[in-house]
Amino acid sequence: MSGVSPGDLPPPAVGPERPRRLRRREALRRLVRETRLAPANLVLPLFVRDAEEGAEPIASMPGCARLGLGPLVEAAREAWSLGIPAVALFPVVDPGLKDPTGREGANPAGLIPRALARLRAEVPDLLRITDVALDPYSSDGHDGLVVDGEVRNDETLPLLARMAVAQARAGADLVAPSDMMDGRVGALRRALDADGHTDVGILAYTAKYASAFYGPFREALDSAPRHGDKQTYQMDPANRREARREARLDLAEGADILMVKPALPYLDVISDLRAATDRPIAAYQVSGEYAMLKAAGRLGWLDEARALTECALAIRRAGADLIFTYAARDLARALG
Ligand code: PBG
Repeated sequence: MSGVSPGDLPPPAVGPERPRRLRRREALRRLVRETRLAPANLVLPLFVRDAEEGAEPIASMPGCARLGLGPLVEAAREAWSLGIPAVALFPVVDPGLKDPTGREGANPAGLIPRALARLRAEVPDLLRITDVALDPYSSDGHDGLVVDGEVRNDETLPLLARMAVAQARAGADLVAPSDMMDGRVGALRRALDADGHTDVGILAYTAKYASAFYGPFREALDSAPRHGDKQTYQMDPANRREARREARLDLAEGADILMVKPALPYLDVISDLRAATDRPIAAYQVSGEYAMLKAAGRLGWLDEARALTECALAIRRAGADLIFTYAARDLARALG
């Protein structure tokens, strides 16, 4: 500014409070930081295919692949060595094994039970989380049983229950129903208890929205619905209060951990559920959120590492205790 010297400026109108005082040095910022992000907060989702070797890259999810059992164990070992406490498994199912009832999902010799056994033997301390829903196994590509073009709620519950029991028998520590059928948490709890798995926890996908951000995941598993969409069971993205209702039901039915999914577009919902319960809250940074960050990073439009950390912090700040994220290893490495 020509001709203006500091002495000519009006006296400062700043009171005694100066928030910048606490931002002056890195050590000070660290000391007063409200939210922490650590590898212990992360869950790594992994895609497993029925082969011993090999990893097939997933185009829309750079850094992720459909892993044979050997590479699955290696990825799990790496996650554990980075301080990540848990993995969540998703199966790539041979199209020849898919049927309308998703029978393969309850096969004790199926892919997920074999993957669980391998992980239990080779990385025993790492927690194993399994997904409970028909879609990877269903010839209709829906999370529930389709009859006359409609996803049937009550007829789906026993199919989910037998899947959860098969997973528990094979060594799942937490089963995670992602299907959004009404009453499924209670149905799973009763079936698990009746089979002697009182210690196997239920991580409920409590507020799972009908989201466009699941696209890359469905490509990875070839699990997109063959007809229609999932709006008759997944939540309407416009709804916030309804998530509290879902939370109330899942808690009453015995859920141990409540999840919100996707994460970043639903921070208000994470915050609401945090306030509504003393149970742990999980959030799933889904495939499309990951793809978006990776794509912009690759184009040089965003600093990928910083954007990933900022998003994860935002999800924690909103109230999530744990975050499912495909970037778990990147984040854990960056956190040191
Ligand atoms: C299936 C399931 C989905 C995801 C996790 N479990 C997809 C869907 O509901 O269609 C999505 C995860 C992601 O996009 O990363 N029940």
